[in-house]
Amino acid sequence: MSTPLLEVRGLSKHYFGLTAVDALSFQVEAGTIVGLIGPNGSGKSTSIDCISGFQKADAGEWFLDGRSLTGLAPHRIARAGLTRTFQTVRAYDELSLLENLCVASQESDGAGWLASLRRSAEVRDKEARAAARGRLLLETVGLSHYADAPAAILSYGQRKLLAIAASMMAHPRVVVLDEPVAGVNPTMVRRIEQVIQQLNSEGVTLVIVEHNVDFVMNLCQRVVVLESGQKIADGPPGLIRSDPRVLAAYLGQAGATAYEAQGR
Ligand SMILES: Nc1ncnc2c1ncn2[C@@H]1O[C@H](COP(=O)(O)OP(=O)(O)OP(=O)(O)O)[C@@H](O)[C@H]1O
Ligand SMILES: [Mg+2]
Repeated sequence: MSTPLLEVRGLSKHYFGLTAVDALSFQVEAGTIVGLIGPNGSGKSTSIDCISGFQKADAGEWFLDGRSLTGLAPHRIARAGLTRTFQTVRAYDELSLLENLCVASQESDGAGWLASLRRSAEVRDKEARAAARGRLLLETVGLSHYADAPAAILSYGQRKLLAIAASMMAHPRVVVLDEPVAGVNPTMVRRIEQVIQQLNSEGVTLVIVEHNVDFVMNLCQRVVVLESGQKIADGPPGLIRSDPRVLAAYLGQAGATAYEAQGR
């Protein structure tokens, strides 16, 4: 069997007395889109915070193309090929869209302030490459007409698109999107879906955390379901939709029984 592009083994994270993620294991094959779903507080964000290095895991190992990412800092993980967006969109309002992308590039690069201070030829060359990549990605997400406008003018949905573009600056192999369409109108949902499909067709592997189950079921080849930090299902969307444990997690046991009794 081929090595999965991303492999997570036995990931656990505790906050005080609470087990937020409990021995979570899953794999993501190269070129696929995998969904990570589950009720509020089931541990989705915590899992990806650990995998991307923004939280320290208590146990577990994770690998990108067989190379361990366990315990590395976020910029090292980004450099290794895994980046992410955040559930709460972050942008520097006073900076232009292009500048926002260049900052993202610098953050994932981890080159540090000393190198930037020297402004060596190498640094200037890196900046030029980042700007070129930024312009290309703004085109991909359909925001190139705003390249030099401050991020403050963006709508909420456009901020989500900017965040996706920012996550792509480091040429990642895997991008993890935390709630890419939460709170976004249906037209923008469709737009974001198209962007994700385009990135995937260009060879990017994606993990999508979302509450919009239809969105996940349409896009993903596989769906992993969490409940109270534990994986309760892992499989193709068709099977996940009718899995009794998944229905119970979302609808409560009584709701799931009624749903099944209706013949779905
Ligand atoms: N920094 C923290 N300190 C303490 N507890 C936390 C912290 N972050 C998350 N938790 C707790 O860990 C559990 C999992 O939270 P997490 O944010 O991972 O869930 P989620 O599945 O992403 O939920 P949502 O769908 O609402 O975004 C929750 O009970 C939450 O209260
Ligand atoms: Mg979350």
